[in-house]
Amino acid sequence: MDEIVRLSKHRGFIFPSAEIYGGFRSTYDYGPLGVLMLRNVKNAWWRSMVQLRHDVVGLDAAILSSPKIWEASGHLANFTDPLVDCRNCKERWRADHLEPDQKDGKIHCPNCGSVDLTEARAFNLMFKTHAGPVEEEGSVAYLRPETAQGHFVNFLNVLQTSRKKPPFGIAQIGKSFRNEITPGNFVFRTREFEQMELEYFVPPAEAQKWFEYWCAERMNWYIELGIPADQLRLRAHDPEELSHYSAGTSDVEFMFPWGWGELEGIANRTDYDLKAHSGQSGERLEYFDQATGERYTPYVIEPAAGATRTMMAFLLAAYDEDEIGGEKRVVLHLHPRIAPYQVAVLPLSRKDTLIPTAQEVLGLLQPVAMCDYDETQSIGKRYRRQDEIGTPLAVTIDFDSLEDRAVTIRDRDTTEQVRVPIDKLVEEVTGRLAL
Ligand code: GAP
Repeated sequence: MDEIVRLSKHRGFIFPSAEIYGGFRSTYDYGPLGVLMLRNVKNAWWRSMVQLRHDVVGLDAAILSSPKIWEASGHLANFTDPLVDCRNCKERWRADHLEPDQKDGKIHCPNCGSVDLTEARAFNLMFKTHAGPVEEEGSVAYLRPETAQGHFVNFLNVLQTSRKKPPFGIAQIGKSFRNEITPGNFVFRTREFEQMELEYFVPPAEAQKWFEYWCAERMNWYIELGIPADQLRLRAHDPEELSHYSAGTSDVEFMFPWGWGELEGIANRTDYDLKAHSGQSGERLEYFDQATGERYTPYVIEPAAGATRTMMAFLLAAYDEDEIGGEKRVVLHLHPRIAPYQVAVLPLSRKDTLIPTAQEVLGLLQPVAMCDYDETQSIGKRYRRQDEIGTPLAVTIDFDSLEDRAVTIRDRDTTEQVRVPIDKLVEEVTGRLAL
């Protein structure tokens, strides 16, 4: 974990936010490599959930939202964590994260050790603000704590414009905000984070079938993108863990350095949300099947993943230290679709004679892959740097390239090198990356 935090800062994946002011409350900024990788995580999700299907359409709903939405969804009443205060040091904790001490069986403050803690009380996790210049009751707005409600309040809009019928889904990626009592473990739990959520609307009788289908699909997605199967598990929630809207939830969990942790929850939300919004808004959020004359409220199966948390899991799973030619190296074995750069273009030296050919090669590859271009330091050091940021392929232009119009491709994982003619390079690189 320490290595991932160090590498993230050192190489430009993730920086603590407002660092020059001493940081700001577990918020993070995504640097030049982080922004590429996070985008790749989201694109890989979108590709599998929207692009490669015919039954899912996309949505990008507003983050600032009406209190009516959260009243209907139950979040105003129920989206709470149990909070306790330490009367001694004034720190606040999530009661369900505190364990009794093994020696005396009492709960101690993790900060100062005191047992003088208040009773637990419900703390709502939503960020409240005001829309407009006047801070009054009528201007209250909330930052969404999940992207999900946008799918439900737009159910009729999407149904009418997309001409889909159940089973069909609405996919959305975007920021969500929760005033977490105890954020931590780097970007695992933050107050501002990104989610990737599908709401899949099905005939009620088919809900269990689709729930099982999405559990299997989602597990496979992580495995196909390189997380070893033995570092993943699917865990069904106990009844007392279930969210207020769920009739059944299973979590995809990853073996983090501190133990199993959730990457994604797959929930059977039943008709809870559509019925709740129908009741509050007076609009009938139902599906009318013209073929059978049947009108019904679909059930919803929801695979809900965290983009930022998943990016961290990809970094952890990919991290490796090995030895090449007696020298230790750090390498990220990232899937080409997830790695920040797919190709590094490296002229062997900074000599003027090599640069035009190197730039020509860069121009050929940029339309098909995200490329880094680096002409500083020795070639060995540049390979190490690309290994450490997970770039699957490096293309080196040397003095022979000027004579034979060929370049060397080096593979990150095997370090094997092959010589390829420049006119075959795009074909060779795209074949190897299999994007
Ligand atoms: N719409 C359902 C929903 O939001 P959730 O289990 O609360 O379900 C889904 O959130 C995913 O969002 C989680 O599995 C996790 O990956 C991510 N997530 C939730 N809270 C987070 C936080 N505070 N920081 C980072 N990621 C978070």
